[in-house]
Amino acid sequence: MERPLTQHIPPSGAALHLKEYEAVGGYSALRKVLQELTPKEVTEKVKDANLKGRGGAGFSTGMKWSFVPMNVTGPKYLIANADEMEPGTFKDRWLLQGNPHQLLEGMIIAAYAIQATQAFVFMRWAYKEAAQIMTRAIADAYAAGYLGKNILGKDFQLDMQLHTGVGRYMCGEETALLNSLEGKRATPRAKPPFPQVSGLFGKPTIVNNVETLSYIPHIMNNGGDWFKSLSYTADGGTKIYGVSGKVNKPGAWELPMGVTMRELLEEHAGGMKAGLRFRGVLPGGASTDFLTDAHLDVKMDFAGVAAAGSRLGTGTMVVLDDKTCPVGFVHNLEHFFAQESCGFCTPCREGLPWTEKILLALEQGNGTYADLEQLEIHTQLLGPGNTFCALAPGAMEPLQSALKYFREDFEQHIKDKKCPYAHH
Ligand code: NAI
Repeated sequence: MERPLTQHIPPSGAALHLKEYEAVGGYSALRKVLQELTPKEVTEKVKDANLKGRGGAGFSTGMKWSFVPMNVTGPKYLIANADEMEPGTFKDRWLLQGNPHQLLEGMIIAAYAIQATQAFVFMRWAYKEAAQIMTRAIADAYAAGYLGKNILGKDFQLDMQLHTGVGRYMCGEETALLNSLEGKRATPRAKPPFPQVSGLFGKPTIVNNVETLSYIPHIMNNGGDWFKSLSYTADGGTKIYGVSGKVNKPGAWELPMGVTMRELLEEHAGGMKAGLRFRGVLPGGASTDFLTDAHLDVKMDFAGVAAAGSRLGTGTMVVLDDKTCPVGFVHNLEHFFAQESCGFCTPCREGLPWTEKILLALEQGNGTYADLEQLEIHTQLLGPGNTFCALAPGAMEPLQSALKYFREDFEQHIKDKKCPYAHH
C-alpha cells in the first residue's frame, strides 16, 4: 500500500529537515507545477483527484479552490488550518512534527493555484513542538528560495507566516479563525459569503486542513487517477485514521480511504484490552454520532459513515468500552463543548451549560425521567440550522446517539439514584 503522506516521517518522530525532504523528492512537485502548469490546471488536477477536505467536513478541495475569483485586484490569502483541537484527534500534529516541508510545499502549490501572495499556518497554541519545527521549516524554505520573491526563478511570490492561536476550539472554525487572525474576537461569521470570496480582511481566502494540503505535492507528482486508485471507495486517496480508548494499540495509521471500522479496531488497534468489551465508537472525533457493533463493517469514508448515521469527521475514533459509563463519557464531552462555546449565539451559549448540568445531575444520581426529555429537546434546539456554526450541532451528535444506543444506562442512573459503573 502506498503511504504518500507518512512514508517519509521518521519512526523516531523527529522532523524531516529540508535536505532530507529534498533527498526523497521534496519540492519536485512545486518545481514541476511552476514549470508546467497554469494555476487553473493545478486546481483541475486537484478536482480530478477527488480529494475531500480532511478537517472533518469533506468538502471537495478542488471545487473550493475553483470558487476563488481570479480577476480581482488586491491580495488573496491561503491558510493552513493547524488548529487541531477536536477531542481524540491528533493526526495533524503527526504531520506537522514529522514532515513540515510536505505541508509547506502543498501550501505553496495551493497559493499558486489561487494566486495568493500571503499564506499563514494557523496553529493550535498547545502544539509547541510543532510550532518550533514549523518556524525552522519556514526559515529554511525562504533561504532555499521556495518562499519570498521570484520563487524558483519564476514570476510568483509568496510570504508565509506562522500564527499560533490562543487555545480555543472555536478558532478552528474557519470564519472564527479569520476573525482571530484579524485581531478580533474569535466568533464565527455568517456564511455566505464563503471565505473563498470574502475571507481574511474581506479578500478571497482559502482555508484548508493540514492533512488536506499535505496531499497536494503527491497529487501533482502522480496525478489524480493515481490518487483515486489508492482508495477502496469513490473518495480519493488515503486517510490518516486514529483510534483511542481502551484498545491494545491506540495510534494513528495512514490507510486506504474506505477501510472498514472492523479492520481499524481489530487489526490496527489490536482489539479491546483484556476483560473489556466494545460498546460503541465515535468515528471521527467527539462531534460525531456513536456507532455500535452493528456498524463494524461500515466503510470509513464520507458517504459510508454518513449512511450509518454518523460522520467520518476527522477519522480519528474514540472507543467506548463496557466498563466506562456512557453518561459520564458524554458528560465529559459536553463539559468540553460548554467550555469552548464562544458565547456568540444564544442556543449554544445557554444550551450547552444546561446540557452539561443535566448530565452531571444524572451521573450523580439526581436525575429524573423529565431530564431525559429535556436532553432530547436540547438535541433539537441546538441542532443544525439553529446556531451560527457547527459547534453546538456537533456537540449534540454524541448526546443524541448515546440517548438512542445507551438509553438503558441513562435510565439505570435514574432508577438506582447513582452511577451503576461507580465501583469500577
Ligand atoms: P462546512 O461544511 O460548513 O464547510 C466545510 C468547508 O467547505 C469550508 O471551508 C467551507 O467554506 C466550504 N464550503 C461548504 N459549503 C460551501 C458552499 N456552498 N460554497 C462554498 N464553500 C463551501 O463545515 P465547517 O463548519 O467548516 O466544519 C465542520 C467540520 O469540522 C465538522 O465536520 C467537524 O468534524 C470538523 N471539526 C474538526 C475539528 C478539528 O480539530 N479538525 C474541530 C472541530 C470540528
